[in-house]
Formats: sequence, structure tokens, C-alpha cells
Amino acid sequence: MATIDLTTQIADVKFPGFILNASGPKCTTEQELVEIGNSASAAIMTKSCTKLLREGNPEPRYQVLEQGSIQSMGLPNLGYEKYLEILPRLAEFNKPIIASISGLSISDNVAMVSAFQQSNADLLEVNFSCPNVPGKPQLGYDFEQTEKALAAICEVNDKPLGLKLPAYFDFNHFDTVAEILAKYPISFISTINSIGNALVIDPETESPVIRPNNGFGGLCGNYVKAIGLANVNALRARLPEHIKIMGVGGIYNGTDAFEYLLAGADAVQVATCFQEQGPTCFARITLELSMLMASKGYTSLAAAKGKLKRL
Ligand code: SIN
Repeated sequence: MATIDLTTQIADVKFPGFILNASGPKCTTEQELVEIGNSASAAIMTKSCTKLLREGNPEPRYQVLEQGSIQSMGLPNLGYEKYLEILPRLAEFNKPIIASISGLSISDNVAMVSAFQQSNADLLEVNFSCPNVPGKPQLGYDFEQTEKALAAICEVNDKPLGLKLPAYFDFNHFDTVAEILAKYPISFISTINSIGNALVIDPETESPVIRPNNGFGGLCGNYVKAIGLANVNALRARLPEHIKIMGVGGIYNGTDAFEYLLAGADAVQVATCFQEQGPTCFARITLELSMLMASKGYTSLAAAKGKLKRL
């Protein structure tokens, strides 16, 4: 098989591959982060942290479904200070470290982004799109607050900065969010987060399948792949070239990753598949992507990136 160069770059940070874990499952504890370090994931992404430790929402808060999952985890994490302690111990894996931050207010985000400046995180991803904290709307759906938050964060940040965005469903929204992002020194976006406030009902029990928020939670997996692809492609067409895109949503195999590449992704993040299959999924998806690209005669990501052929 021809060797395919799957290395990629965001800002000045080189990634040894195209496929990494999403801030989501199995990236909360040091042990889980070490397992990601030991896997073929192209980076180590932490669970989105808050200022204080959070237990998260009551169980059951995650349910695997036929074509994906629904979850309302509620940002269970160890608190940002713990990640500041853990990060140096992940340096031995020699791959990019991405600290994901999800403040419950703009001032929380500013405080945590400031604190991570002195850390060995190579990139920061600030989560503007968690749908699962009761009383906290998804920041990315409020364009005024998005801009206010970005302005405040960029004041204190010198690291390559990314934003985790919610799914948008309207061309006006793609235009507006891209215009806002282009005004700030952002290195990447991760799109999409789970699609918030879905409701899955079990007809046997006549109840929702998860407990928090009356059963409303983020929809993940195959159900959302087409929306993820649309967001990558629509935002790629609108953002300046230096803002890279990490595609997220429904990536289970090499074909899914290839579709995100065609849509314009610079890297992809895996969530539900990682939750269900564990860290070996990164090597498998990478191999499948390489084999698919080789069979199509591609030798590099660049040759296929954003090359979706319109009908
Ligand atoms: C959660 O912890 O509730 C999921 C995080 C997210 O959707 O950003």
C-alpha cells in the first residue's frame, strides 16, 4: 500500500495524524488521558474543564442508541487546576496536548484561559456549545455574547486558540459566525458539538432514556454526521484559510473521516465511537482512511482536503 501522509498542522503545531479524541468521552481522568497518549490518537484532548470540580448530571446520563448516542453529562471534570497538574505528565507522549475549557461564564473562561498560558498545553479549545448545564444556554447560539466572550478571551491568550461550536442550521448563521470568528486571532474551530436538546423515548418504559433535563440531551454519532459535514463545509467556505477546522460528529470509520476531509476538515475528532470501542479505534480508523485514500490514488491529505465535487 502506498504511504499516505496523514500529518496535519494547526497554527504552528504539528499533529502526527488526522484523527484524535474529542473532548467528551474517556478524557477526564489522568488514567484516561494516559490511555489516549498510548493510543494512535494524534493528540491528547482533555475533557472540557470548569473552574471547580463537577460531578456532572445525575445518572443515567448517557445512552448508546442504534445509530449513535444521547448524553447529558453536565461537564463532569476534575476542575482546571487538576488538569494544570496532570498536563506535564502527558508530555512524554510527544503529541499535541489540547486543554479544553468550558467556563460557566465569560469571566470563568478568561480566568482559565489565563491560567493555561503557563501550562504545556499546545492548544486551547474553548467550548462555546455545551448543551447540558441547566440554566446555561449554548454560548455559540448567542452571537452578541460569543463576540463579547471572544474579545475577552483573546485579550489574555497567546496560545493557539480554538472554539468548539454548536451546529448551525441556517446560511445566515454560517455567515454571521464566520464574520465574527474572522475578526479574532483564532487558530481553529471544532465543529460540531452534539446537537443539543434532543429527546429519545423508550416506548417500553414510556420514559426518556436519560434522566437529566427531563430527558433532553445532546445527540451524537451517525445521526449527526450529515450536519457535521455541512457545518465543516459551510464554515470552510466562509472562514479565512488560517482558521483550521476539526470536524466532529459521527466518525466511526475511515470513510467517515474521508468525507470530513472532502468537506474541508484539517483533522477530525472521535467521540461516540471512542466511547463505545475504546482507544484502539484511533489506529483502526487511521488505517481505514489510509487504505481508502490509497485505493483512490491519493498520497496526502492536501490532495483531497476540501475537494468535494459538486454535482
Ligand atoms: C457534557 O459534559 O455535558 C458534554 C460536553 C459538551 O457537550 O460540550
